[in-house]
Amino acid sequence: MSVETVTPTTAPHTGPLTLIHSEDSQPGWWRSAVIYQVYPRSFRDLNGDGVGDIPGITEELPHLAELGVDAVWLSPFYRSPQRDAGYDVSDYCDVDPLFGTLGDFDVMMAESHRLGLRVIVDLVPNHCSDQHVLFQAALAAPAGSPEREMFIFRDGEGPEGHQPPNNWQSHFGGPAWTRVTGPDGQPDQWYLHLFDSSQPDFNWDNPAVHIEFERILRFWLDRGVSGFRVDVAHALVKAPGLPAWGGRADGGSSDGFPGHEAPMFGQPAIHDIYRAWRRILDLYGPDRILCAEASVDLPRLAHWVRSDEMHQAFNFPYLHAGLDVNRLRTVITDSLTVLGAVGAPSTWVLSNHDVVRHATRFGYNGQGPRDGDGIGLADPQPDTALGRHRAAAASLFMLGLPGAAYLYQGEELGLPDGIDIPEHQRQDPTFARTGGQRLGRDGCRVPLPWRADEPHFGFGSGNDPWLPMPSSFAGLARDLQAGLPSSHLSLYRNMLEIRRGLDLGRGSLAWAEDWCTGSSLAYVNGTTLVLMNLNHEPLEMPAGQVLVRSASSGLESSGWDGLLASGETAWIRIGPDTSAN
Ligand code: NOJ
Repeated sequence: MSVETVTPTTAPHTGPLTLIHSEDSQPGWWRSAVIYQVYPRSFRDLNGDGVGDIPGITEELPHLAELGVDAVWLSPFYRSPQRDAGYDVSDYCDVDPLFGTLGDFDVMMAESHRLGLRVIVDLVPNHCSDQHVLFQAALAAPAGSPEREMFIFRDGEGPEGHQPPNNWQSHFGGPAWTRVTGPDGQPDQWYLHLFDSSQPDFNWDNPAVHIEFERILRFWLDRGVSGFRVDVAHALVKAPGLPAWGGRADGGSSDGFPGHEAPMFGQPAIHDIYRAWRRILDLYGPDRILCAEASVDLPRLAHWVRSDEMHQAFNFPYLHAGLDVNRLRTVITDSLTVLGAVGAPSTWVLSNHDVVRHATRFGYNGQGPRDGDGIGLADPQPDTALGRHRAAAASLFMLGLPGAAYLYQGEELGLPDGIDIPEHQRQDPTFARTGGQRLGRDGCRVPLPWRADEPHFGFGSGNDPWLPMPSSFAGLARDLQAGLPSSHLSLYRNMLEIRRGLDLGRGSLAWAEDWCTGSSLAYVNGTTLVLMNLNHEPLEMPAGQVLVRSASSGLESSGWDGLLASGETAWIRIGPDTSAN
């Protein structure tokens, strides 16, 4: 359903325009920010153990400041047995020794602030690790005890309770219930885990859980973080009675989002939790934010970002739209309209640590891999050059949009997924829980190449990296790209600089109808026309100065011939230069 409001106007060179969104003048750094996701395991390994660490992040932060991002979001670095790469937290208020210490964290915060970068951390409130003291206490306590009430324990069905309490399936495959052995050594109750069996779900019907998480929020706010990315924010509250639900825990409806009736997602009581959290954040001033990782469709996503709830939410419908110009137009129109109606900016995202990188996804014509299901050597292989070419176009198209954008580490280098990962090195629990049927997400988590000539391409100088780095990463290393005006990295720097100079994140959006042809898509943001050509043929561009184009990353002087190649995007100035630069 599109909620487009048609306001035809005209502009010189561009033909009729359909205005969707006006300039944003509300205060808030986050409304237009570019936020860079650091996946600590794979960013930079300074102590040489093969896994990235916090001192490694501190060391390389100047590169992120130079890239031109506003903030970093850190995936979990808390104490954890690492059964789900840190999304299984055993102590929310400490740093896992794998990554360093709280002291290292404080040093990293200070360095970030010195460089003008804000830091957002990941909060995982739906579940913890089975090694968390609260879960260990629940295991040691009898059924019905306050300790068990912190989690979702139920008696089994059937004779002697041998069957799980309901038919819910884990997001990673297999049943969403595991039976425990009671303190007396006998088979006992079952506990719910929407993810791995090592990730028991908290019971958010219990006020004690609320108190515990409010304490955790304050702990990190006191340490200076600018906010939280909230993991599976739509899952905390389950429908009363835990009614049966067919299919995967993620719903599996045709649009990739849970059906409206999914009993483990989007329950109305969730919103009171976020209202309470918002009140806590507001006590720290207007600059601390909450961002929902909520896999829901657009009309419902607006509920998460009402003025007294979260500040923003990931826009997964945008990620899922791929390079389908019709879907992109609908999603962008709906996002700006539906979220704008509650006063929230939209966010945009193309890659993260859970999906195949967009440089790889776009290397397929037709159906690419499914979310969370990586690619192996036995699968159809992507065309890597095509993928990188289109990824540049998609990123340039996204970063011209008004609102906030999330980047995933390595996309500025045009990195593809790692495909040649031996089975014994695969670590995503999805792989083991599906008996290898779904390869899982390791491919997008391969460590970053920093310096082409150093061991492990500069990721770390000690042990082998925790996932193998493809040899092709040598040619994509940051130091090589930094000196090349035509590199992917130079494109990202150019576009982020121009985006900031023109304040595109706070800008407007109108569709440029003459350039929305069914195989090309164009919008005007302020004085900039953003045009993406997905036709097989080159497209003649409208008159105007080319500010940046995806194929060469260069400016007009690098060879503007009036034609936009297939799979290319350009930003074209169509009005007077009003930037501060
Ligand atoms: C979403 C996270 O992004 C993903 O990596 C994790 O496995 C699940 N939530 C469970 O925490």
